[in-house]
Amino acid sequence: MSNTKLNIGLFGFGTVGKGLHEVLSKINLTDVQIKRVCIRDKSKKRDALLPFTDNAEDIFGDKEINFIVELIDDAEAAYLIVKRALISGIPVVSGNKKMLAYHLDELISLQKQYKTALLYDASACGSIPVIRNLEEYYNNELLTSVKGILNGSSNFILSKIFNEGMSYQDALKLAQRLGFAESNPTLDIDGWDSLFKLIIITVHAFGVYVRPDEIFNYGISSLNDNDIKFAEKEQRRIKLVACAEKAGDKLVLSVMPHLISKQKYIYSVEDEFNGVVIKGLFYYKQFMFGRGAGGYPTGSAVLSDITARLYDYKYEYKRQNAVRKLEYTTDVPVRIYFRYSDDKHLQLLDFENITEKYVSRQFCYVVGTVRLKQLHQKAEVLRKEDIFLSVYPEN
Ligand code: HSE
Repeated sequence: MSNTKLNIGLFGFGTVGKGLHEVLSKINLTDVQIKRVCIRDKSKKRDALLPFTDNAEDIFGDKEINFIVELIDDAEAAYLIVKRALISGIPVVSGNKKMLAYHLDELISLQKQYKTALLYDASACGSIPVIRNLEEYYNNELLTSVKGILNGSSNFILSKIFNEGMSYQDALKLAQRLGFAESNPTLDIDGWDSLFKLIIITVHAFGVYVRPDEIFNYGISSLNDNDIKFAEKEQRRIKLVACAEKAGDKLVLSVMPHLISKQKYIYSVEDEFNGVVIKGLFYYKQFMFGRGAGGYPTGSAVLSDITARLYDYKYEYKRQNAVRKLEYTTDVPVRIYFRYSDDKHLQLLDFENITEKYVSRQFCYVVGTVRLKQLHQKAEVLRKEDIFLSVYPEN
């Protein structure tokens, strides 16, 4: 592809698609142009002078289009577009984390089979180049964990609640108005968006692909005033944290709220920003911080994926070729704060120990250790009941 002009067929013109177009029109890139944009509803008024179509064939049938950028909301439609592009030998950039989280294994094989490339740095952590960094820099044996705030909307909501005393609902509405939230914001606040990004990051960090249903994820939608007061009393903040962590020769993944103390880097990650802490033997730790959502930051990240193809960049999936593969497990202890409203909730979990218990008419909680495996098994009921739980690290 080097020295070839990129004629882009763009699918989707939402927040990120528009962001990409505006970023492109503010800089002068002679070798990159959007040739045509495929959208669902052609009758919708758009403030951009671009050739729009609602027929995918106008893109796939255009011989001059040599690059596909997929930025649509619908994960299954995105999958079909990306697959078709790869099978046709056309390099493609995607921002659809849900689609990638469900289909990455197959899409990696297709890239190898059809000798073309799929890039998606923009899909995880918006403007932070976390995937390329993990892919290029770290040594297999030395990397020990990748943890962080991967969802801008939930972090924005938590910041507004903790710093400005805003109500949960108002903060969510504001995140939606500012264009950070998914069209279905449950994906943000219940931890699904973070989960999808974690799966993608884990492939590049540890070379292991784990399906979404195999990982425990729990969000912030049941957080109440008592949880906030508890965190403040402990001089901590609640953050929604995605973790990929080595435990011996095993790999542990989770997405859960954490009670974060002041000395942690991510304590200070506010609003729609994301923050990723990468730990390794001898490296100790490194911190990547930046805007994780919004049209311009994510549009710029998409552009970076596009221009990487001007010099034929592709992911090598080096960690997947490692001789010693980590085995995925959920059979590990986790210390949690567990707020409940009925004694029957306590029976849901077999606490290995309880170090703190508080019971009043308005507020009941315990702090204790459970197995992550059990949280995963009980995930559905834990999400339904009037309960909130958060990892409560010792420090
Ligand atoms: N809804 C996502 C977020 C957008 O809030 O982080 C960026 O992936």
